[in-house]
Amino acid sequence: MANSGQKVVLITGCSSGIGLRIAVILAKDEKSRYHVIATMRDLKKKDKLVEAAGDAYGKTLTLLPLDVCSDESVRQCVNNVKDRHIDILINNAGVGLLGPVESISIEEMKKVFETNFFGVVRMIKEVMPDMKKRRSGHIIVMSSVMGLQGVVFNDVYTASKFAMEGFCESLAVQLMKFNIRLSMIEPGPVHTEFETKMMEDVAKMEYPGADADTVRYFKDVYLPSSIDIFEAMGQTPDDIAKCTKKVIESNNPRFRNLTNNLYTPIVALKYADETGGLSVNTFYNLLFNFGPLMHITMSILKCLTCSCLRRRTISPN
Ligand SMILES: NC(=O)c1ccc[n+]([C@@H]2O[C@H](COP(=O)([O-])OP(=O)(O)OC[C@H]3O[C@@H](n4cnc5c(N)ncnc54)[C@H](OP(=O)(O)O)[C@@H]3O)[C@@H](O)[C@H]2O)c1
Repeated sequence: MANSGQKVVLITGCSSGIGLRIAVILAKDEKSRYHVIATMRDLKKKDKLVEAAGDAYGKTLTLLPLDVCSDESVRQCVNNVKDRHIDILINNAGVGLLGPVESISIEEMKKVFETNFFGVVRMIKEVMPDMKKRRSGHIIVMSSVMGLQGVVFNDVYTASKFAMEGFCESLAVQLMKFNIRLSMIEPGPVHTEFETKMMEDVAKMEYPGADADTVRYFKDVYLPSSIDIFEAMGQTPDDIAKCTKKVIESNNPRFRNLTNNLYTPIVALKYADETGGLSVNTFYNLLFNFGPLMHITMSILKCLTCSCLRRRTISPN
């Protein structure tokens, strides 16, 4: 149970990756300022988190089951929090989806929206009324660079994050009137199971419904470039957790928080040309015309991107 003075933080999707690291970093805060309620849909997956939390487990970190796709699970979880008092809600749970649109069923697409969009909306709807009554709170949403810029073959995942960005951009204004802050965290590539799971799955799949050229562009052009980008520009879950902690601890938390400043120029492209041509043509050329050049650039970047060159928009350090 939280001590008086401790902020209660509820985090979704803590079985692995970014959510796990945010839970651990906040629970191990040197001044014990947080009581972390780390949630996951299957508590059988708790071991990695419990091990990483060490002594903090049972003190500044407790566990609750939560599936963001279930109204009942969300309601039960929040009801299990003392007085339903949550100071900081971190919406981290998310799923990816990669591949040619022709080979993805509408059902699979809906599952992505159910988690990445409606899962967040469901959580906010459950927690926000209590925050409004108290006239305080901070809601964090784990978005992505792909919430700001579309990326080829990530059409549905990108759409789910765009939807989230639009929802939050609208809601943030109303919430400010209730002294509730809303912040988006927008990582580029991060080395987690998310990426590993997706890359392993896609390499094996056949993609029925997509023509041979599209499958070739996806497997032989997009995937190798994507792996290059992850290797050259990828951050760690710890980087993202430290950025998130900074946002929480800021006196005036920003609404948008890109975690990797290597992506700032990419995101800027779309705002530099209102016709949209600049970003669409640039991505087309990067993928289809300058593939080998991009591979060399990424290899050089990989060598160069030591911490001194990574002055991020919100530095994790
Ligand atoms: N990795 C990247 O490159 C990257 C980049 C930008 C943004 N992000 C975002 O970062 C967030 C965390 O992803 P990650 O990279 O840490 O991936 P991850 O290691 O796969 O973690 C995703 C977490 O979400 C949980 N989850 C999935 N569906 C859920 C549901 N219905 N209810 C509750 N939890 C659910 C997973 O739980 P299970 O173990 O039960 O599946 C897992 O704990 C996601 O929102 C993702 O979109 C990731």
